Amino acid sequence: MKNKKNILIIDDEAPMRKNIRDILSLEGYGILEAENGLAGVDVALNNEIDLILLDCNMPVMDGFAALSELKLINPERPVIMLTAYGTNERVIEAIKKGAYDYIEKPFELSEFLIIVERAINYYDLLKELNTLRNRISPKEIVSVNEDPIIGKSLKMKEILKLIGLAAPSDANVLIQGDSGTGKELIADAIQRHSLRKEKPYVKINCGAFTESLLESEIFGHEKGAFTGATSQKLGRFELANEGTIFLDEINNMSPSLQVRLLRILQHQSFFRVGGEVPVPVNTRIIAASNKNIEQEVEEGRLRKDLFYRLNVVRINVPPLRERSDDIPLLVEHFLSKYAPGKKFIVSNENMSKLKECYWHGNVRELENNVQRAIVMARENFIEIESSDEPVKAELPLPGFDMIAIKGIPFKQVVEDFEKSLITRALIATKGNRTEAAKLLKIHRRHLYTKINDYKINIS
Ligand SMILES: Nc1ncnc2c1ncn2[C@@H]1O[C@H](COP(=O)(O)OP(=O)(O)OP(=O)(O)O)[C@@H](O)[C@H]1O
Ligand SMILES: [Mg+2]
Repeated sequence: MKNKKNILIIDDEAPMRKNIRDILSLEGYGILEAENGLAGVDVALNNEIDLILLDCNMPVMDGFAALSELKLINPERPVIMLTAYGTNERVIEAIKKGAYDYIEKPFELSEFLIIVERAINYYDLLKELNTLRNRISPKEIVSVNEDPIIGKSLKMKEILKLIGLAAPSDANVLIQGDSGTGKELIADAIQRHSLRKEKPYVKINCGAFTESLLESEIFGHEKGAFTGATSQKLGRFELANEGTIFLDEINNMSPSLQVRLLRILQHQSFFRVGGEVPVPVNTRIIAASNKNIEQEVEEGRLRKDLFYRLNVVRINVPPLRERSDDIPLLVEHFLSKYAPGKKFIVSNENMSKLKECYWHGNVRELENNVQRAIVMARENFIEIESSDEPVKAELPLPGFDMIAIKGIPFKQVVEDFEKSLITRALIATKGNRTEAAKLLKIHRRHLYTKINDYKINIS
């Protein structure tokens, strides 16, 4: 039993109304009636109605005048015009004014029912789309983020240039970068500067769902496709039609979903879960990954053919430590974002420490630290935490090749390793033995002995 839908019949001929009422009641629809446009508008204002059948020629207020009023009340609810045979010009006029369809009187029963049902389903879908739009959190279906991308470093300038070129091109984009480097911000900027900027922008994080949930989120499903699928559901791809979809953490998509995604890219259409009819879509894809994509392809986790289709424009976002020149700008930006109008003083010492940090969490971590510092600040002085050790303390470890050391006595391998480690420490500290000893966490004298023993010559 379908949810009861209400249909309003506006026609001045009582026998016609009765005829339609009899047919549609049998189909399970609820029926309301009005005998002219004016009365019809009144009924439409005061009742929940899913479809309106509207006669063209009526006294008091004719169908065309009523159509305009009805569209004002609810522009999305479908109105089907009932027209007399051979009034094509008027039909065109009505469709231009927003009628969903028309039916010529006298009509053929099966055709009439098909048109009515199609209109009802259409309105259901529109309503579903609206509730989905409201249900999905604003981070996912977007109120586009207008935050600027801050950065003057060479690397960021390159990226901004790429965004400018890629945005209007309609090509798919693949963004790769560590967590918190600004991938989503870049995706937003591309959308904002694209020709699709007025169209829907839908985001989905492929890492945030189980496989089957992700499938129905992306592709939608038909009623009854699986237990619990009590009604048809539109997927994010369909919601993003004519617009842009941001597929975050694409590397988390299972192989079978990758196949389905590839199909969309090849055919510009897809099947809802449990669906038998392909649904056409025209959606631009911006995908992001915080893993090394080439490696994901190499190791078989991401399909090569899918990769090629996504990787039309490629943007690699460098980690923050590789663009530390941008740190003062970013700090200034976040200070004015979170404490507008306040003037804070960041000491030079603090700033240089921030510039030397490793920043595992990249820009996001810096942003969080600035926010925290604002809360802790006394007067105008602010101390921004650098959450991890400065990069300088990082000592690159010599690599190990298990095959190369095969057959060499253990003592020899250890000595070689030690020698290599000390050499690297000396290079890292530009030959400063005291610093090198600190870095290696050994006693200075012990280091001297080793340097002598191994005859290391770096000063
Ligand atoms: N260049 C930048 N200028 C200004 N703000 C930035 C910049 N880069 C990143 N941010 C800010 O840092 C935070 C993290 O950025 P974003 O969410 O875009 O990163 P992400 O790469 O998508 O991270 P994840 O991989 O964790 O999803 C956001 O609040 C964003 O506004
Ligand atoms: Mg992100």
